[in-house]
Amino acid sequence: MEINVDTGKILEKNYELLVLGIFEEEKYQGVNGIIDKALGKEISQKLKTSEFNPKLKKTCLITTYGKIGIKRILLVGLGKRKDFSLESIRMASSSAINSIRELGITSCTFSILGDKATKISFDQIVENTVVGCELALYQFNLYKTEDQNIKKINKLLFFVYAPETSVIKNSISIAQIIDNGVNLARNLSNTPSSDATPTQIAEKAKIIADESGMIFSVLNKKEMEKFSMGGIINVSKGSNQPPKLVILEHKGGGTARPIVLVGKGITFDSGGISLKPSEKMEDMKHDKAGAATVIGTMQTVAQLKLPLNIIGIIPLTENLPSGSAYKPGDVLKMCNGKTVEVINTDAEGRLILADALAFASRYKPQAVMDLATLTGACVIALGSFATGLLSNDDNLKKRITSGGEITGERVWELPLWDDYKELLKSDIADMKNVGGRPGGVITAASFLSNFVDYPWAHLDIAGTAWTQSNVGVKPYNPKGATGVGVRLITEVLRSWET
Ligand code: BES
Ligand code: MG
Ligand code: ZN
Repeated sequence: MEINVDTGKILEKNYELLVLGIFEEEKYQGVNGIIDKALGKEISQKLKTSEFNPKLKKTCLITTYGKIGIKRILLVGLGKRKDFSLESIRMASSSAINSIRELGITSCTFSILGDKATKISFDQIVENTVVGCELALYQFNLYKTEDQNIKKINKLLFFVYAPETSVIKNSISIAQIIDNGVNLARNLSNTPSSDATPTQIAEKAKIIADESGMIFSVLNKKEMEKFSMGGIINVSKGSNQPPKLVILEHKGGGTARPIVLVGKGITFDSGGISLKPSEKMEDMKHDKAGAATVIGTMQTVAQLKLPLNIIGIIPLTENLPSGSAYKPGDVLKMCNGKTVEVINTDAEGRLILADALAFASRYKPQAVMDLATLTGACVIALGSFATGLLSNDDNLKKRITSGGEITGERVWELPLWDDYKELLKSDIADMKNVGGRPGGVITAASFLSNFVDYPWAHLDIAGTAWTQSNVGVKPYNPKGATGVGVRLITEVLRSWET
């Protein structure tokens, strides 16, 4: 989307539509006050009569009938000033842009949502307004051939008094880089497994690496065998698609030790021989959401040129049943030499992650974060409002928790006590791949902890990676893949201080 900044006298403008943010229980000042006066107090009147109640996300359209140059005003509620946050800005801007799109208008102008009296700076307001708008406008219509009467907004303008335009322009381009990363992750996750095979995703990752100045490499089955990656190799055995392990490297941090991101890339999870029920199985195309997020985040951090060394490791394979599939009872030798007895072939994510996490150790990382749609148990525990966080490092937990508050991609911690490891004891191997239904999020993470020897955090995004319905959904997350984690991890890395 084309985004620009405009300044000058608001009453001399003839915008198609201007968005004004309105706090609850307040008099209008600044641009809001000027417009209110020019419209003969129409805005104040609407508030007085409760025709418009400026609760967060609520909108109200006013046609100006030539009283001023601007044709339409869209009021958007910002809620109470005391509750105003970056998330309010994203919620308000996305709610506004959704209703503007419905009007069939193709361009609009935003007045700054909020003012000098809030503690949020102009550049943060602008960044988060752009994020709210661009994420809300995302559509996945690659497969629609019939005229869908697709409504698009292609121009956005910010009206500002202060000519701090260079700061604002910088915030706009940062936001656009982040949005492109999130929407890339959404595209990868939304793409059906037939068009997003491990090979196709690896090819796409190579293009992204070339465009964004990253180093690309890939391990094929042969190399995986050399590294004894029994997890990913065995999970891939039921599929005709060869597995891939993609490595993306952003080098911005000189000689510093890298931060490694690992993303679960099951391009389709049927459960394998431990076949899943068919209801909602189509959603398992999203079992590559972790991989999608790591690829989206890598593109983002490379384009933001973050002064860090960041490596993305993305194990990719399908999990299918067939005559050559791995089976319950099989014992696998993993990348770090440990052995795993397979009890359930549907607990495949932890097997491919285990190899990738053990492999990450070669890079002597200062920290590793993995993202995975790992357990149905996480959906039961936290629903769709929080990502599960399990970590062996307090410092890393703090960084991620704070990143979650800032981006609205909130995380909730679950314990990684040793007690849970007991549940994974095997009679014939070093461990089993499942520990029973109770505490399923935690036993999955405990399993992974056998393969790490560095500060590590595991993010279970099973409940947050895609939205099932529109109930309770944020207006900037359209139905389907959310790209969760791209903004969170980007924020963690942007504020990383060693
Ligand atoms: N990909 C699934 C987890 C999942 C399920 C994510 C539903 C999002 C929605 C994972 O591979 C899986 O099948 N996990 C099993 C583990 C069990 C066999 C211990 C699960 O959660 O049922
Ligand atoms: Mg599974
Ligand atoms: Zn899975």
